[in-house]
Amino acid sequence: MSSLEVNNPKVSMSDQLPSSPVSETPPTAGDKPETVFTVRDLNVYYGDFRAVVDVGLEVYEREITAFIGPSGCGKSTVLRCFNRMNDLIDIARVEGQLLFHDIDLYHPDVDPVAVRRRIGMVFHKPNPFPKSIFDNVAFGPKIAGMGGDLDEIVETSLKGAGLWDEVKDRLDKSALGLSGGQQQRLCIARAIAVQPDVLLMDEPCSALDPIATGTIEELMREMKSQYTIVIVTHNMQQAARVSDRTAFFTAEADEATGQRRGKLVEYDDTGLIFSNPNDERTEAYITGRFG
Ligand SMILES: Nc1ncnc2c1ncn2[C@@H]1O[C@H](COP(=O)(O)OP(=O)(O)OP(=O)(O)O)[C@@H](O)[C@H]1O
Ligand SMILES: [Mg+2]
Repeated sequence: MSSLEVNNPKVSMSDQLPSSPVSETPPTAGDKPETVFTVRDLNVYYGDFRAVVDVGLEVYEREITAFIGPSGCGKSTVLRCFNRMNDLIDIARVEGQLLFHDIDLYHPDVDPVAVRRRIGMVFHKPNPFPKSIFDNVAFGPKIAGMGGDLDEIVETSLKGAGLWDEVKDRLDKSALGLSGGQQQRLCIARAIAVQPDVLLMDEPCSALDPIATGTIEELMREMKSQYTIVIVTHNMQQAARVSDRTAFFTAEADEATGQRRGKLVEYDDTGLIFSNPNDERTEAYITGRFG
């Protein structure tokens, strides 16, 4: 099992990593799930604009956690903090604590590239490279210098993403010739090819029809036995269907500045959020009266 690499050998965070962050056996009913991410007092700024205010939550191993809420409430912003994708936005600044197991992901000696290898991401619009199907999946393992048989890694990843049977006879053909739903599954195969522990999915089905959406949802349920998944979705039925826990965010105007800033309103078991939410803002949103 790889560990997060650190630039400064004096700060050996790999010592603090569990040797295998993903437990060997899935939890059985009643077991307390392992915490994968601990978020405390998370604030994200774009320049002077504080987009996300004081978010705190925990994400559990081998669960699907859904982020829901109206547009602009900071779902993508929070999601991008989990694998330091906000680092790629010049004006973004992250404050607070974000632990992956017990590693501080924002410690100056943590290598963001190593973080993204362990914590992969799938975006709302399928974004395959203009390369062959094979090369799309082989790209990450090659760059990461992973050992092993590339043919085997590609096959396993495509099987894991439920795409193998559809593409096994055309691996050398362009990925751009696949349908939207196939392209999204290819992007999932590309993400899992580097053997991450976590998959972050930002509206992965927003560009897909209901059948392709159903395929991806089924895939997510299967993948849960191996991966921890955090999904952002505007589709509340989807959150209710696939997730174990749901976090509802909203955006509220700051009294002093009038700026609309994202807040976590409520985070609980998905069944409870959708049947008996604590906060009236959650209820208004899930019943379609707001947002
Ligand atoms: N790159 C950026 N530069 C400046 N402001 C940004 C940037 N990305 C997001 N924001 C702002 O941060 C706030 C939260 O945006 P974010 O994209 O996280 O919301 P969201 O909940 O994912 O919305 P949606 O559901 O529309 O995708 C918004 O006010 C947005 O305008
Ligand atoms: Mg978003």
